[in-house]
Amino acid sequence: MTSYTADLLSDTLTQPTPAMRRAMADAPVGDDVFGEDPTVRALEERVAGLLGHEAGLFSPTGSLANQLGVRLHVGPGRELVADQQAHVLRAELGAAATFSGITSRSWPSERGLLDPAGPMSLVTTGVGPYQVETALVVLENTHNFGGGTVQPIEAIREVRSATQGLGVAMHLDGARLWNASVASGVALADYGSQFDTVSVCLSKGLGAPVGSVLVGSAEQMAEARIWRKRYGAGMRQVGILAAAGLYALDHHVDRLADDHARAARFAAACAEVAPTSVDASTVETNIVVLDVGSVGWEAPEFVTALLEHGVRAYAVGPGRVRAVWHLDVDDAGTEAAVAAATELLRRSSRR
Ligand SMILES: Cc1ncc(COP(=O)(O)O)c(C=O)c1O
Repeated sequence: MTSYTADLLSDTLTQPTPAMRRAMADAPVGDDVFGEDPTVRALEERVAGLLGHEAGLFSPTGSLANQLGVRLHVGPGRELVADQQAHVLRAELGAAATFSGITSRSWPSERGLLDPAGPMSLVTTGVGPYQVETALVVLENTHNFGGGTVQPIEAIREVRSATQGLGVAMHLDGARLWNASVASGVALADYGSQFDTVSVCLSKGLGAPVGSVLVGSAEQMAEARIWRKRYGAGMRQVGILAAAGLYALDHHVDRLADDHARAARFAAACAEVAPTSVDASTVETNIVVLDVGSVGWEAPEFVTALLEHGVRAYAVGPGRVRAVWHLDVDDAGTEAAVAAATELLRRSSRR
């Protein structure tokens, strides 16, 4: 394994801590396809409770949890609408179309920030059977490719009240909903109450090696359980993994504020030397997207130059580089990243 001074490629890279590994080793388990794994059940109940929903379903990945949610609400030939940079559209490799025959449309946004006019400009109902009808709005909180953007609860409520009367469902891709809640102070259940289904990930900032949970009504989760098995993701003594999630909920939620502070420190330092590279006031959580193109860098070139300093980041567009903070990046790593990035951004002004 290559080691970096600061590995900011993604918050999915975290190593399970020794205490998390012990919790996994000690977990009581059973066959979860038969619904007999006590640790999985405990995790599902706990996450459903936190989000104010009736039931939960453990999933190996966030992508599958999203796709199970989507499939519950949208039938073949109907559509979901989502932000142009939404994970469900950009990074799930056509799953909604491939597995569920779903059409998708998208609205543009700045940093992934929700403006209710975006989804409402697309939602179309009462035009069947010869035109595609909207069955689902998918929102993402925080917004990954938008730079960890927290969606304002008022904007979410506005979309909810506009769509509810139309019979259009709402699904939240809450892979990083923990970060949103820690940053905004809005309770998880307040976010959860605005959606029919919510997926959350334990394997991002929370530091578990695997695992997501989909929540919704008991009836919906019973149906999603069947689809999960059909997709080949019925799992057996998987309490070993659920235990990592339970451990993460006990120990790794409040500390997300440290990741946010480190990301803010990095953004502020970059903005100081290259004001067009990032608006530090928009960095709310653990993700910073630098517009290195605005100071004359190609993103892959910038990423390679960072690597020479032992800092790994991710090119998310021709001129955009993403850096993500997590459990395994401390203050020293952050300062190393600050030194490397600011040197390169400064150098750009001399190029
Ligand atoms: C916003 C968002 N949703 C969903 C996912 C999917 O999670 P997974 O990689 O576990 O499929 C990710 C992964 O990075 C994500 O960032």
